[in-house]
Amino acid sequence: MSAGELKFDRELFLAEYWQRKPLLIRNAITGFQTPLPADELAGLALEDAIESRIIECRDDEWRLCHGPFEPEDFERDHPWTLLVQAVDHYIPAVAELRQLVSFLPQWRVDDVMVSYAADGGSVGPHYDNYDVFLLQGEGVRRWQLGQRCDANSPLIAHDELRILQQFECREEHVLGPGDILYVPPGLAHWGVAQGECTTFSIGFRAPRINDLVSRWADRVLEQLDPELFYTDSAIEAAPRAGEIRPQDLARVRAQLRAALERESSDDWFGAMVTEPRYSCEPLPAELDEARALLAGGASRVLLSTAARVAWQDTPEGILVFCNGEGLACAASVKPSLITLCEQWRLEGDELSEGLAREDTASMLDYLLENGGIHVE
Ligand code: SIN
Ligand code: CO
Repeated sequence: MSAGELKFDRELFLAEYWQRKPLLIRNAITGFQTPLPADELAGLALEDAIESRIIECRDDEWRLCHGPFEPEDFERDHPWTLLVQAVDHYIPAVAELRQLVSFLPQWRVDDVMVSYAADGGSVGPHYDNYDVFLLQGEGVRRWQLGQRCDANSPLIAHDELRILQQFECREEHVLGPGDILYVPPGLAHWGVAQGECTTFSIGFRAPRINDLVSRWADRVLEQLDPELFYTDSAIEAAPRAGEIRPQDLARVRAQLRAALERESSDDWFGAMVTEPRYSCEPLPAELDEARALLAGGASRVLLSTAARVAWQDTPEGILVFCNGEGLACAASVKPSLITLCEQWRLEGDELSEGLAREDTASMLDYLLENGGIHVE
């Protein structure tokens, strides 16, 4: 699977731009054609199960409504934008855009959001906490890049939208089909459609350190012996009644650090970063059917476009994560798993040889059960 190669210097990008500076890549994809026309995007926004929004600015007032929409919702008198989340989960040609960023860890990619804007449509000046590659689909959009922002940057009063009160334009680029603008986290940006246009946002995710600490601590607590107590042998006499001394706190911290290091395994991280945003477990009947096909000579196994799959080496073998679950496997499953993660499919001899080995067959069954693959 491939949407082509990004025409740019990856090493330079990683060293100087990723997470730091915006980068405009003109004509980024050879022979670019939009993977999804605007009318098909509108069709997705009519569906209950798909997350969509319309943002409109009327007389300086920003309005937001949530989908699913009716066709009449797309007839509007003011500039407006339709945004559809996770379009890569439903449209394979849009999922292929994720291959453009395959030089970055897959678990960092979130989804591909697609927007359609009428002439003058915009979601307002804002910043995101995540990196995004903005690929222009059809039509033209003028992007302005502004100041660095953070949680203290003043926003206009709105219950749901996070639009900046101030925007200081530092750069401006007019993007046409196939151009890409990379925007790092925290950088103000403002895209306004010049005529009708579509934009594909390949968005990344980064776990909040808050959440990492919480998950890590949960895992440590599962493993920690509840009968282990704070110790202070060889303690110094306490001359001042009531005092908690710096040396007491240092001892507590040292014992905490030792417990965290001793007890923590890293198996929680992959489970956390592969948690799906939308549930993707197969129905029992689908699972039975797929299992029968897998046992009876499937012609190929395809990675589900909505699947979040990752793996890591361990001293005993590897851990395979799929949609928030983890499984310990023998290292021998690695070649098949890497092919699946890279090519998004497993077929021919590689599939039949894999299925003939118990370890790979049970890994595939696990991926199937957790909505990571489907079988043809
Ligand atoms: C858009 O596609 O209109 C908005 C994308 C973004 O600013 O992140
Ligand atoms: Co943005």
